[in-house]
Amino acid sequence: MGFTIEDQSITEVEVKGFMGDCLRLNMYLRTAGRVLFQINRFRAINANELYGKITSMPWENYLENDGTFSVTSWVRNDTIRDDRFANLRIKDAIADRMVKKTGARPDSGSARDHTVIHVYWVEDKVRLYFDTSGNTISKHGYRKIPFKAPMSESLASSVIMASGWDMKSSFVNPMCGSGTLAIEAALMATKSAPGLLRNNYGFMHLKGYNEGSWKGYKRLAGLQKRETLDFKIIASDLSGEALRAARENARIAGVDHLIEFEKCDFRETPIPKDNGVVMMNPEYGERLGADKDLELLYSQIGDFLKQRCQGYNGYIFTGNLDLAKKIGLKASKRIEFFNARIESRLFEYQLYQGTKRE
Ligand SMILES: C[S@@+](CC[C@H](N)C(=O)[O-])C[C@H]1O[C@@H](n2cnc3c(N)ncnc32)[C@H](O)[C@@H]1O
Repeated sequence: MGFTIEDQSITEVEVKGFMGDCLRLNMYLRTAGRVLFQINRFRAINANELYGKITSMPWENYLENDGTFSVTSWVRNDTIRDDRFANLRIKDAIADRMVKKTGARPDSGSARDHTVIHVYWVEDKVRLYFDTSGNTISKHGYRKIPFKAPMSESLASSVIMASGWDMKSSFVNPMCGSGTLAIEAALMATKSAPGLLRNNYGFMHLKGYNEGSWKGYKRLAGLQKRETLDFKIIASDLSGEALRAARENARIAGVDHLIEFEKCDFRETPIPKDNGVVMMNPEYGERLGADKDLELLYSQIGDFLKQRCQGYNGYIFTGNLDLAKKIGLKASKRIEFFNARIESRLFEYQLYQGTKRE
């Protein structure tokens, strides 16, 4: 999106920008959880010092005194045993400042559908942010019907991006469940911004929010969107219930006309005669050996990829690295992911016609 990355870690990317940039990031980011806008950084050794520094900030310039706000935090400080205590002191500090300057205090609660203030406090280092997303943007607003163990929407799009799929060739998603991978593929290929499906963000509740500017981004994103694709996206599952969920979710996402749904065993999934990506997210048990059926399933997946998907790149996303060995094909890439706390992998298999040398 044209930003220079100032810093990054396993869970964060830091860029420089204005509030307007946060609107743009919220509109277009597919793989993020939230967009935080830093408003202050300082040092505080205990909760009293934190309270004092927060009350000295001009909250009346940012918040409406008849609005609602919530506080989230990440605290690692020896004087704090319970994060909730830190949150309470932060809320009090903001509310006390508002009362002093405006004569009224905004409501506070735990819902994130209004103004959200995020505090990062590690040792004596404090950083204060507006969480401009509010509720997480890892949800893309279309999955009204989940099915068994759905992938988060942002994880699904991250996995597709990591595969390097060119968005010009077939995308086949056997075992589609609630359809997240196929729907994300269609949204990416049609350049449909995830923000188009959502109407409430944290930034909308800040003083000075420029509605016209958000509408402008929305209009622009709408113009960029394509309605048709000249390749196939196929989603299949054995379960009728899964397919009903997938179809409905795709309809809400506005991409149901771009996905061919098939109710079948994964081995019967139609594979177009060109090339592209076959991506699957099979179930996985806790430990190897716990489930013989799953071991058989993974070896059948290996056979399916080898026999029916020649010319394609095959991808398996799983949280069970031992079961993945049962696929029995040599992976050309293994990309690490965390699915919440579960260490997972995206395995890539290059499915040549014949041997590699041929
Ligand atoms: C872990 S879920 C996939 C979740 C999906 N990625 C999502 O985001 O909703 C695995 C799916 O595989 C399907 N499944 C299991 N065995 C199958 C088989 N032999 N053929 C086709 N689908 C199968 C299940 O019905 C289930 O929907």
